[in-house]
Amino acid sequence: MASYLQCMDCGRQYPIDSIIYGCETCGGLLDVAHDMDTLRATTSRALFDSRLGTLDKPYNSGVWRYKELIYPDIAPELIASRPEGNTNLYETPSLAAWAGVDTLYLKHEGENPTGSFKDRGMTGGVTHARRLGMKRVACASTGNTSASLASYAALAGMEGIVLFQNKGVALGKLSQALAYGATCIAIDADFDRNLELVREMSASLGIYVLNSVNPFRLEGQKSIMIETIQQLRWQVPDWIVCPGGNLGNTSAFGKALHELYELGLIDRMPRLAVIQAEGANPLYRAYKTGFTRFEPVHARTIATAIKIGNPVSYPRAVRTLKWTNGVVEEVTDQEIMDAKALIDALGIGCEPASACSLAGLRKLVDQGVIGKGDTVVALLTGHLLKDPDATINYHADRIEDIHPAYRNRIHEVQPTLEALAAVLSPDPIVQVSTAYPEAVE
Ligand code: F0G
Repeated sequence: MASYLQCMDCGRQYPIDSIIYGCETCGGLLDVAHDMDTLRATTSRALFDSRLGTLDKPYNSGVWRYKELIYPDIAPELIASRPEGNTNLYETPSLAAWAGVDTLYLKHEGENPTGSFKDRGMTGGVTHARRLGMKRVACASTGNTSASLASYAALAGMEGIVLFQNKGVALGKLSQALAYGATCIAIDADFDRNLELVREMSASLGIYVLNSVNPFRLEGQKSIMIETIQQLRWQVPDWIVCPGGNLGNTSAFGKALHELYELGLIDRMPRLAVIQAEGANPLYRAYKTGFTRFEPVHARTIATAIKIGNPVSYPRAVRTLKWTNGVVEEVTDQEIMDAKALIDALGIGCEPASACSLAGLRKLVDQGVIGKGDTVVALLTGHLLKDPDATINYHADRIEDIHPAYRNRIHEVQPTLEALAAVLSPDPIVQVSTAYPEAVE
């Protein structure tokens, strides 16, 4: 049986090529549903292992390696792939010690073609747009989705249309969307309003929406979980820790893990910890009420990627947290930027939103939620170069209300040997200390 769309609330089913983003009966969010018996017969760890390192399309992609689990029915010639995925999983003992656990891996999704995890969803979404014969695709974005959409629209020969707030979008992301040739529209409205506008605009102008309300995006993003577990030789970590904004990843991770478990590809579920910025924390607040109440917030955080107050995938995220016995935590901008500085100082690097993972992990270990002996995978969602201003302003101590605990200042010197020698200590600095200062002045 072929895959189809299904409402996550009332179960109503729709043909896979229906252009809808919510259930016509109850307004619920849609899943791409697969026939599990078919998947059981067509998937195995050995099959996915046999494709590792292949040069053959589409299996050279870290998304399409798992084609049977992502979009089984799609004709290979329709697949729009860069290819994406195949990102590194870094074991980081010094950060593990800082956070208080024995084993910590960083899964660096900033190593995707456009520098964020969004490419994994975008290959799914643009591939489906091709199948539907769409000429124009659109999204609202805090930056990364727009960069990814612009790139994949260029690949597929479609017009990419991106709506973003007229301030606060990181320069790296904005420059990508422009450079890749998207129609870029700056609006005096926040992400949440822009998403409403995209949905209205698309319905009236026949444009295909590629925000994560689109379930084909989420199918692609499932591959982050599958690839991580394959890289761990199919051993399931105790915890996955990721930032939460519009909650597309949270939703995709739950669906991926649920399906892997149902299919017997993993023998237990990891727990998921979703970390939000304190100033953009509607999921955290709802979690604190036992999900009895959900209220949008007016978002404010230095981590502009997750400056989102009314996450569209909230119901799917709640489902994920139930499936994975998950938790939600919040972190301050100060904690985000200090954690980022530590990840950066390893030579790995990430953009601010990504550092929620490490900052949140440390907090959850402090609270005894995550145990010292637990194996943890923390997601880095975007590349360091996405937001160079945040990095430079941190190290220059130019961010209001943030005191850089791990500052690496630029030394300005006269062009003389003496001046250079005065800066350089006799012993080379080999590693930035990860000891957290007791008090920051
Ligand atoms: N990290 C980064 C770097 C992001 O760009 C985003 C989302 C998130 C985390 C949060 O992921 O929405 O799945 O919970 N960025 C979107 C955008 C909203 O428009 O680029 P989420």
